[in-house]
Amino acid sequence: MGTYLLPAEPITSIDQYLATDVGGAGVEAAMRLGPAATIDAITESGLRGRGGGGFPTGRKWAGIAAQTGSRRYLVVNGAEGEPGTFKDRALLRANPYQVVEGLIVAAFAVGAVEAYVGIKGSFEREIEAFTRAVQEFQTAGICTDCTVNIVAGPDEYLFGEEKAMLEVIEGKPPLPRWLPPYEHGLFAASPQEGWEAAPHGAQRRTDEPNPTLVNNVETLANATHILANGVDWFRSMGTDRSPGSIVATVVGDVVAPDVGEVELGTPLRAVIDAVGSGTAPGRHVKAVFSGVANPVVTADQLDAPVSYEGFESVGSAMGSAGFIVYDDTACMIGAALRFSRFLSIESCGQCPPCKLGSAEITRLLDQVERGRATVADVAAIAGWLDRVTDGSRCFLATEERRVVASVLRSFPDELAQHLDDGRCPLPGERPMPKLVDLAGGRATYDTSYWRKQPDWTYKPDEG
Ligand SMILES: Cc1cc2nc3c(=O)[nH]c(=O)nc-3n(C[C@H](O)[C@H](O)[C@H](O)COP(=O)(O)O)c2cc1C
Ligand code: SF4
Repeated sequence: MGTYLLPAEPITSIDQYLATDVGGAGVEAAMRLGPAATIDAITESGLRGRGGGGFPTGRKWAGIAAQTGSRRYLVVNGAEGEPGTFKDRALLRANPYQVVEGLIVAAFAVGAVEAYVGIKGSFEREIEAFTRAVQEFQTAGICTDCTVNIVAGPDEYLFGEEKAMLEVIEGKPPLPRWLPPYEHGLFAASPQEGWEAAPHGAQRRTDEPNPTLVNNVETLANATHILANGVDWFRSMGTDRSPGSIVATVVGDVVAPDVGEVELGTPLRAVIDAVGSGTAPGRHVKAVFSGVANPVVTADQLDAPVSYEGFESVGSAMGSAGFIVYDDTACMIGAALRFSRFLSIESCGQCPPCKLGSAEITRLLDQVERGRATVADVAAIAGWLDRVTDGSRCFLATEERRVVASVLRSFPDELAQHLDDGRCPLPGERPMPKLVDLAGGRATYDTSYWRKQPDWTYKPDEG
C-alpha cells in the first residue's frame, strides 16, 4: 500500500506497460478532460515537484498555460546530479513508460510545441531506456505528433539547475541564466544575454519569451498515475500537504545502500531502516543530509516524517529524498568540508561571492579539519557564510550556506574539539557520495571526482 512508481520487476516493453492498470490511461484521461481540467486535477492532487524544491506542480503548469506567446516548451529534468540521489535513474530503469506518458500529459496540458529531455550523457542505460520508450509510444500511435528531443548533457552538478539546463539544450555550457524558464524559455531572446562570438541555437531564436515548463522525471511519473487513478486515490496516500509516495535513496554509513519507494509521512528513521537496512550493529545515526542542499538533520530529529512539512518542522528540507547517513564514528567537520568542496568546485563563478566565498570556506574548513584553525578562522567562515549568496543567480550558493552553517550550529562541541586539541577527534576518510550506480545493496561512487578542479577540468589520474 502506498507505492506505485517502482514495479517489482522492470517493465521493458510498451505491451507490458499497456497491460498494467495505468498504461495509456493517463493520456486517455487527459484527452477526455482537456488541458484546463487536466491542470485542475494536478492542482487538486497536491502533487509537489520531486526535483528538490517541492514547488506545487499544478500551480506551475497553470502558470505556463496562462503565459501569452505562441510557443511553449516542456523540459524533463533527468540530470540527477544531487549527491546521494539515484531515484530518477531507478525510475527510468524500472519503468520509463510512465515518465514518457507523464511527458505527453504535461505537454498536452500546457500546450507545449516540443519536449526536451535533459539526461547526463554518462547515464547511457537510462538514455537508451527512455529513447526506446519514446519510440515505442510513437509506434503504438499514442505519441504521433509529439516531438521529443533527448539531450545528453555534461556531468556538472549545475546541468540539473533548470536555468542552466535550458542553456545546455541550446548548445551552451551549464551556466544558469538570470530569469526563470517561465519568463525566459528555450530559444527566446533576452536583454540579459551578453555578447557571444558564435551564438548557439541562434537559428531558432524568437523574439518571444517561449515560456518553458521544467519538471523532474519523478514528478511527471506521478502525473501519469494521478490522471489514471484520480485525485482521491493519490490523496489517500501520504499526508495532506505531501500526498503520494516518494522514491528515496539511502547511502552512507548504512548496511545496504539502496533506493526504494516509501509513502510520504513515513518517519526518517523507518526510511533509513527500510531502504538502507539501518546502520551497522553497535553503531547509531549521528546525522542525515538530504543531498548537499539542505541543513543537517541530527540524531534527535530522526522521528521527523519524510514529507515537505516534516523536514521543515526540524529546520531542514526534504530535497529530492536522497539521504546521506553518517554514524557516530563520522566527523561532521569532515562532512561539511566534503560538501563545501563539492559545491565550490561545481560553482560556475558567474557570481563572484559564490565561487570565491565557497572556495574560502572550503579552505578554512580544511584548516579546521587538520586542527590548524584559530577562532579568527571560524569567524572568517561565518563572515563568508553571510556574503556567499550575494547577487546569486541560482540556489547553489544558498546550499553552501545552509549545509555549512547548519553543521557548525549543530555540532559546536566537535568544532571546539578540533580547535582545542589541534587535531580531528574522529579521523577517517569518507567518499563523496556522487553516485555512478546503486544496485544490490552496493553503491558505486565517482572516484574521479576528487581530481576535479575549480575550472571543471580534471587533474591527471596518478593511479
Ligand atoms: C544546483 C542545482 C542543481 C539541481 N539539480 C537538479 C537535478 O539534477 N534534477 C532535478 O530534477 N532538479 C534539479 N534541480 C532543481 C531544478 O532547478 C528544478 O527546480 C526542477 O527540475 C523542477 O522540477 P520539479 O518542479 O518537477 O521539481 C537543481 C537545482 C539546483 C539549484
Ligand atoms: S550562484 Fe554560484 S553556481 Fe549559481 S550561477 Fe552564481 S556562481 Fe554560478
